[in-house]
Amino acid sequence: MNERFRVVGGTRLQGRVPVVGAKNSALKLMAAALLAEGRTRLTNVPAILDVTIMAELLRRLGAVVDYDTTAGVVEIDVPATIGHRADYELVRALRASISVLGPLIARCGEADVAVPGGDAIGSRGLDLHAAGLEALGAKVHVAHGYLVASAPSGLHGADIRLDFPSVGATENILMAAVLAPGTTRLDNAAREPEIVDIATLLVEMGARIHGAGTSLIEIEGVDALHPVEHAVVPDRIAAGSWAFAAATTRGDVEIVGGNAAHLEVTLELLTGVGCEVTDTADGFRVLAPEGRPRSLDIATLPYPGFPTDLQPFAITYNAVADGSAMITENLFEARFRTVQELARLGAEARIDGHHVLVHGVGQLSGAPVEASDIRAGAALVIAGLVADGVTTVSGVQHIDRGYAAYETLMQGLGADVTREPDVAPFA
Ligand code: UD1
Repeated sequence: MNERFRVVGGTRLQGRVPVVGAKNSALKLMAAALLAEGRTRLTNVPAILDVTIMAELLRRLGAVVDYDTTAGVVEIDVPATIGHRADYELVRALRASISVLGPLIARCGEADVAVPGGDAIGSRGLDLHAAGLEALGAKVHVAHGYLVASAPSGLHGADIRLDFPSVGATENILMAAVLAPGTTRLDNAAREPEIVDIATLLVEMGARIHGAGTSLIEIEGVDALHPVEHAVVPDRIAAGSWAFAAATTRGDVEIVGGNAAHLEVTLELLTGVGCEVTDTADGFRVLAPEGRPRSLDIATLPYPGFPTDLQPFAITYNAVADGSAMITENLFEARFRTVQELARLGAEARIDGHHVLVHGVGQLSGAPVEASDIRAGAALVIAGLVADGVTTVSGVQHIDRGYAAYETLMQGLGADVTREPDVAPFA
């Protein structure tokens, strides 16, 4: 059944909101579990559909997977021999499925992984993944919609320089190289906290890795890894989205379980427009200043720069801010779907190439809108809070991929957000 959120405007968000483990780390840690025979246990795992899909993918590869959504625990029991094919049916539902590529080539010497779909956010190539695995000794080609990799005589260490610090390519190369004899030097690697989290798990499993979190990662291949227990790093994107929710609604929100150090640039920008950001015993707190938010120019960049996944929240913030702002998207093309929907709410925003010029208006005006991906959808609910009247946000299934019970989290902060059946589309 299709569902939508009904949002009644006019609430200033106030209170405490929990943040658990990062979706974008949990999914990769689950893939990394394939590298060791035996039972890996992950804790602080979010209760979201994407984890359910990844669990199913690992089951099809031969693992026994238990996912306890209440406890936030995933246990993955990996047999000595695993399958090496990830079908389109699952990969199309979850782009992050591509992260089994590195573990499968390392464990099986071959991997057939469907070329993914996933979020509708512009084209995302796999050339850096392929080039990295080729440098490690694999042969890679695309056939019938599958990326087919094989390394009949095994992988070996190599010097690799990424043209761009791709998160996914860094992860796949890292997960393939940990079992490749010799030394791998990965230069211009992505530096995201999720990369550090995966490297930490791999080191706990017995891998030899130095420099994760910097641009140069060095990996000494080992013969085998062993299963461990590991807690997923807090979700900095969810935490950042609550920081923007506070700033946009002139609210006061403590983000419990959030790590401010992983959001340095974002929180500095919010401080610059008058928000008070303080560390608390359990996380951090964002208190917006009195009166209308002040406009804020943003340019997305690889970590530690401003995250592209927070860009829809920055646009929404500026839609009601005092003044004009330029938002520049440097990572993905066509990732401006929020703009069309915000326009339905009366926002004044103009797309020009990879920039959006936003001129803040005093208040948005409630209307039906449609979520196109996780973050755009979550941002539209925040827009509904600063619109007069009722806003309905369709496409709730996208939001559910990134947030467990988003409406409950919103209600906990005083918002009038409810889930309801969506009207049937015209047939
Ligand atoms: C991950 C996150 C996503 C986030 C992004 C950037 C997951 C599941 N998703 O996506 O939420 O927005 O990091 O922080 O973790 N590129 C190539 N060739 C490649 C690989 C990437 O050209 O082989 C390009 C992409 O088209 C894109 C850019 O590099 O323009 C960034 O992609 P990448 O860093 O790989 O992002 P993902 O790992 O896909």
